[in-house]
Amino acid sequence: MMKNNKRTLITALLAASFAFAMPLSAFAQKKIVLGFSQIGAESEWRTANTNSMKTAAAAAGIDLKFSDAQQKQENQIKALRSFIAQKVDVIALTPVVESGWDTVLKEIKDAKIPLILVDRSVDSKDTSLYATHIGFDFVEEGRMAGRWLVEKAKSMKGDINVVELQGTVGSAPAIDRKKGFEEAIKAEPRIKIIRSQTGDFTRAKGKEVMEAFLKAEGKKINVLYAHNDDMGIGAIQAIEEAGLKPAKDILVISVDGVKGAFEAMIAGKLNVSVECSPLLGPLVMSTAKDIVAGKSVPKDIQGKDGVYPMETAAKEFPNRKY
Ligand code: AHR
Repeated sequence: MMKNNKRTLITALLAASFAFAMPLSAFAQKKIVLGFSQIGAESEWRTANTNSMKTAAAAAGIDLKFSDAQQKQENQIKALRSFIAQKVDVIALTPVVESGWDTVLKEIKDAKIPLILVDRSVDSKDTSLYATHIGFDFVEEGRMAGRWLVEKAKSMKGDINVVELQGTVGSAPAIDRKKGFEEAIKAEPRIKIIRSQTGDFTRAKGKEVMEAFLKAEGKKINVLYAHNDDMGIGAIQAIEEAGLKPAKDILVISVDGVKGAFEAMIAGKLNVSVECSPLLGPLVMSTAKDIVAGKSVPKDIQGKDGVYPMETAAKEFPNRKY
């Protein structure tokens, strides 16, 4: 009888300790679930960015729900609504274009899910719709490209005719890199943009549009300014196929600093690439953890950028991570 009572007591104590201990340990081990709406895979930069996000999430023990929007805003909006329905802990969004986000961002806010804007930003007036933006000063990147040309112009004679390959229409980097470049080249009135068209941030489109520029303007073109390396690399092919020498007959300026651009610089075909590092994953994951832990985070966190002229490419190449 005594023995039975003792056993019942021990069983009751064990059950009670489980009842209290289980939820606590389960809580401590609960993985943060982060829904990420990525634009797609339009460029070498974007692929490196996706890899950085996936690798960093795994390293941080974060459960990443990845959605590829294939360049469509409507797909991104659907993905965001599905993240709300799944009650994820944090949402990360790289908006393909700047406008048209207010309604869905308000739905995210109403669901009390913190939002991190990654790389590109939105033009919403209400900044309370997102917790933070981790990205770049795209206007400054455009200025860096423009300043390089203004400096280069000192050793050039006559008018300097530029053709511009813009990124995706309505996207923050296309709008801002154009703005910054135009601002910087005002310092040298001989520099003129004679044609400007979108190449959608892709190699294929960059090549196609450059072919059209060459057909229309021929040898009048002195400089190509491409809003990203992929379009620049595509355009280099078009320049070569037209029997001209890229980086000599036509100076080539682009943005991103991907490996492909470094290879082109080492081969003497690209003059300069303005860096915009896609390796944002670790910063996004640590910020997500801080937000979930209730810490306050800055409203704008800047990634790494810089300027790499072709003369520095061979020396820098071994240090490149993307
Ligand atoms: O938003 C960043 C830009 O998007 C990169 O410069 C470009 O390569 C990418 O597609």
